Amino acid sequence: MYPPEEVNPRLPRPIIIPNDMIVKMVDRFYEKVREHSILGPIFDTKIGDRWSEHMPKMYRFWSSVLNSSGLYSGNPMQKHKPLTDKVKPEYFTHWLDLFRETLEELFDNKDVEFIFEKAERIAQSLSLGMFYNPAAQR
Ligand code: HEM
Repeated sequence: MYPPEEVNPRLPRPIIIPNDMIVKMVDRFYEKVREHSILGPIFDTKIGDRWSEHMPKMYRFWSSVLNSSGLYSGNPMQKHKPLTDKVKPEYFTHWLDLFRETLEELFDNKDVEFIFEKAERIAQSLSLGMFYNPAAQR
């Protein structure tokens, strides 16, 4: 028998990463991002005076990714595609390095691996969406 939550997604999901830790993770990560010599200016130019909207959005995003809370509604690919003139593929490595550094400050190894794996997959799909253009290879 499957556990009931696998057949009825409307049942409450277990909290895997507590909300207060998601807030700490997002706060600390964007603190690092804003100090980063390459990523900082990209975020600051694009987000400008909208940081007070961006941060709660990112709490909701990570709560959806990590705890399947369904709180985030949005389209990250659509938001990242216009950044291709400012972002190079290798910037995703900088992003992931800062993210991993943040996780290692806050979580035990098991959670670091669980969260980092999610981030890596999303980074890969955003990066493919932004930079992989099969038509350009013909
Ligand atoms: C080099 C790597 C990246 C850069 C430079 C970047 C930059 C940005 C910027 C500038 C925004 C704000 C867009 C806007 O409000 O107009 C944004 C939004 C966002 N980013 Fe990234 N990002 C990167 C990688 C990632 C990764 C790896 C993830 C997820 C694991 C991610 C998740 C998001 C989400 C969820 C939003 C909010 C989208 C929305 O408005 O609904 N980003 N990013």
